Amino acid sequence: MKRHLLEAADLDRDDATLVLDTAAQIDQALAGREVKKLPTLRGRTVVNLFYEDSTRTRISFELAAKRLSADVINFSAKGSSVSKGESLKDTALTLEAMGADAVVVRHWASGAPHRLAHWVRGSVVNAGDGTHEHPTQALLDAYTIRQRLGRLEGVRVAVVGDVLHSRVARSNVGLLHTLGAEVTLVAPPTLLPVGVGSWPAEVSYDLDAVLPKVDVVMMLRVQAERMNASFFPSAREYSRRYGLDARRMGALHDDAIVMHPGPMNRGMEIAAEVADSARSTIVEQVANGVSTRMAVLYLLLGGSPQ
Ligand code: NCD
Repeated sequence: MKRHLLEAADLDRDDATLVLDTAAQIDQALAGREVKKLPTLRGRTVVNLFYEDSTRTRISFELAAKRLSADVINFSAKGSSVSKGESLKDTALTLEAMGADAVVVRHWASGAPHRLAHWVRGSVVNAGDGTHEHPTQALLDAYTIRQRLGRLEGVRVAVVGDVLHSRVARSNVGLLHTLGAEVTLVAPPTLLPVGVGSWPAEVSYDLDAVLPKVDVVMMLRVQAERMNASFFPSAREYSRRYGLDARRMGALHDDAIVMHPGPMNRGMEIAAEVADSARSTIVEQVANGVSTRMAVLYLLLGGSPQ
């Protein structure tokens, strides 16, 4: 493993498989235990540095570090000296002086974790940077697919919706390709990035044509907060063409699963009855996020197995 986890490309097939296998071991070790805690990272310090709002990812990393017995510092831009204009570099140097072994960073600027990695001695984990990457989300998604379907090699995955603004899509396309899955991106042309032709994925504009052929449908949130223009005629029109409702879900084969990284716009990209159906892995994804991030922190900080 490299020292930092900044993007999906930092993991080759062996590294990625090691993370997933370690997460599975952690799940097994903790199953049925009353105290869900391992002593592995005792005495180590993990800083969660969040410059952008987050519910799941922040709590998930916090819980992951705590379950490994690390000391955890949660730092959010609101209420810190960042709101007084302190730069990322000065914040990083402060953390460095306090002896952080790992810095988990979420930032609105694509590339911020890469900059940070030059300034600190500890490991940097990208918890989502702008529209760029979110590698631990891709790992927990891969873990969830493997758990449900028993494999990743040859699994056909449709990633549907706002690909343009989605760091989840970017990281998933990279990691799923590394792990031997076949990805098809499905989106209106306005929500696909320039250069998507060079990604290791097929592209389609027709959700109905793709659904019967896939094992996994990964729905993406329409990221209104990153849209400074109109990317589609109306929410209703978007939903009609690219939303997953119960009728469309009926086109999937019997074992196919439906994923969403959260937070969901229920009724927009995904209907409530689909999100709450037996095919949906949305709640499992959240649970798997904790064990996957424990595996990442454990492997990066090099604790010895207990
Ligand atoms: C995603 C994110 O923040 O990139 N959510 C998450 O981490 N669970 C996806 C999103 O915001 O739509």
